[in-house]
Amino acid sequence: MANVANKIGVLGAGQLGRMLAQSGAPLGKEFGFYGVSENEPAAQLGHAFFASKETKSLGDLVTFSDVITYESENTDVALVREIAKTTPVYPAEKSLYMSQHRGREKGLFDQLNIPCAPYQIVDSLESLQQAVEEIGLPAVLKTTTEGYDGKGQFVLKESTQIEQAWAEIGGKELVLEGFIDFQRELSMIAVRNANNEHVYYPLVQNVHHEGILRYTIAPARQVSEALQQQAEGYMQGLLDALDHVGVLTLELFDTLDGLVANEMAPRVHNSGHWTQDGAVTDQFENHVRAITGMPLGDTSVCQPLAAMINIIGKTGPVEKVQNMPNVFLHLYGKEERPNRKLGHINIVADSEEALFETFKALSDFLP
Ligand SMILES: Nc1ncnc2c1ncn2[C@@H]1O[C@H](COP(=O)(O)OP(=O)(O)OP(=O)(O)O)[C@@H](O)[C@H]1O
Ligand SMILES: [Mg+2]
Repeated sequence: MANVANKIGVLGAGQLGRMLAQSGAPLGKEFGFYGVSENEPAAQLGHAFFASKETKSLGDLVTFSDVITYESENTDVALVREIAKTTPVYPAEKSLYMSQHRGREKGLFDQLNIPCAPYQIVDSLESLQQAVEEIGLPAVLKTTTEGYDGKGQFVLKESTQIEQAWAEIGGKELVLEGFIDFQRELSMIAVRNANNEHVYYPLVQNVHHEGILRYTIAPARQVSEALQQQAEGYMQGLLDALDHVGVLTLELFDTLDGLVANEMAPRVHNSGHWTQDGAVTDQFENHVRAITGMPLGDTSVCQPLAAMINIIGKTGPVEKVQNMPNVFLHLYGKEERPNRKLGHINIVADSEEALFETFKALSDFLP
């Protein structure tokens, strides 16, 4: 395997980049961030390269870096292909290309026999009407690209809503998905390095409110060994098919008929933030290890239970958190704005009762 890389360039300078730097620094890694402004969360934790500065450009980031990674699946594939001519980019183009388009992503799930919602790509009102007839209602209409935090989605309950849905989010390529009647939402984070080592974190449970992740419980309760193995099998299939290097996240619906894949992300993920305080090696360190040619770290959970609560929109009474045992505050240095992810609170607990008590004490941060 190639020499260990020490200078990491990140396309983006948000909280994910910031946490990559926080976990990568103890391994001797140096970071450069390509973003839009020095006020972004990661800017103070590494060398900053900004589009607006003439002296420090994307070209300078590439020159600085031994390896490049990115914060978002919406990163331009053509840009990544261009950079990869001179500097390795991980996860590589294929992972990015497949996961930034809901149609391609579902095509891959089909190919690997990973169950997902019935779906159809539509690009006109007529094709939407046709798709509704075939898939049935309720159904979820989504933009094929660039959705996040539930944006660019319309839940169709009645066929009388079809025109409204097309008017609101149509005019471009969309995907209509059958509505999945899930018991709960789960996700799994897996990591692969270029030496073909694979590691998996336990399945976690995610609770969303108005399309935004509000909290995660890790490991998810009542997960049989068989369910964990099944999810690991799906992830292994994806990692190998993509020749993926780095963290890969898979969001799943847990239904009475078994696991159904929702979507994947070729990056560290909000549902893995608990690993910073609850796992032997956190997802950020493992991503850094994977993309720089290091062996992967232990994904075991340290305490019986861990959790993560997102701080959304308003920072809230964070002083409460400062002297609570087994509670860890992570702020991103962002200004308050409705629906914005400003930070998160991690919790570790030795029992469900202890976790429940801590959740009660932190109710100000829950929806
Ligand atoms: N087919 C479906 N059936 C039932 N619920 C769904 C379906 N698709 C999405 N949802 C609900 O909407 C949420 C957001 O959907 P999805 O993950 O596709 O969007 P997103 O905007 O990419 O979200 P994020 O970036 O937050 O992961 C899901 O977590 C789930 O709660
Ligand atoms: Mg999602």
